[in-house]
Amino acid sequence: MTSLVPEKLKHGLAAGDAGRPARADWTIDQGWAAYTAEEHDIWRTLFNRQSALLPGRACTAFVDGMKALPIGPDQIPNFIELSEVLARHTGWEVVAVPGLVPDEVFFDHLANRRFPAGQFIRRRHELDYLEEPDVFHDVFGHVPMLMNPVIADYIQAYGKGGLRAKQLGVLDKLARVYWYTVEFGLVREPGGLRIYGSGIASSYTESVFALDDASPNRLGFDLERVMRTRYRIDDFQETYFVLDDLDDLLKLADIDFAPLYARVSAQRELEPGDVLDTDRVITRGTGSYHHGGKGV
Ligand SMILES: [Fe+2]
Repeated sequence: MTSLVPEKLKHGLAAGDAGRPARADWTIDQGWAAYTAEEHDIWRTLFNRQSALLPGRACTAFVDGMKALPIGPDQIPNFIELSEVLARHTGWEVVAVPGLVPDEVFFDHLANRRFPAGQFIRRRHELDYLEEPDVFHDVFGHVPMLMNPVIADYIQAYGKGGLRAKQLGVLDKLARVYWYTVEFGLVREPGGLRIYGSGIASSYTESVFALDDASPNRLGFDLERVMRTRYRIDDFQETYFVLDDLDDLLKLADIDFAPLYARVSAQRELEPGDVLDTDRVITRGTGSYHHGGKGV
């Protein structure tokens, strides 16, 4: 059973005060030395099965980023070591957080090229279940893409845009852009469609579903269209948006969002599975996964 929670940004969602750590920016020490052998072993399981799946599926930027980083099967990566490499390439660093953090904290980190990563790892009996982003999602899924200069600039711009959108009361619109790009984006490459979204790249099942399944729509990316489109927070997406080139994200970094928000807010919201006459349809999905007995 699934539910639709369209107005929430899962990876930047307010966690309330209950989990508030001592530091104002919500960062904590990774506590790398405290990981247990079992936790490193869970990492190994996740790393190995995902690494076997991604050749021919992950985009070139992801593969190149992964190769250049100290990320391997043997142990949960150390954020200090990751940050040393990231800093040399794109000026980013990885900081540990206990899980979800308030929107303003999340955006402020991104605006300053700090990527807040979950410090904990999921448990073995929940390999494919993720209530909050853990170290595997955040490091395996996100950090390789932060080695790419375009993505590095884009996510920083998103952080700055997030702070503005929050003030304008339109965070839901901007959150959809993050969702359908950084988390669940696909990109065209000469060999076919490839994954660059971290939510897909870190998911064993969605890595296959997003590219191979007949059910979801795959549509050409259009910023206003994406801003109007609700998303599924706890199940496969009904629609994936496809960039012609990762460089297209740079254009988004320069956009003056205020007039755009006004236009988008005047139009009706779209459901996750909607396909419009104006869409650039790459694949028209059957919808069988979500509407054929599974899902809602
Ligand atoms: Fe994420």
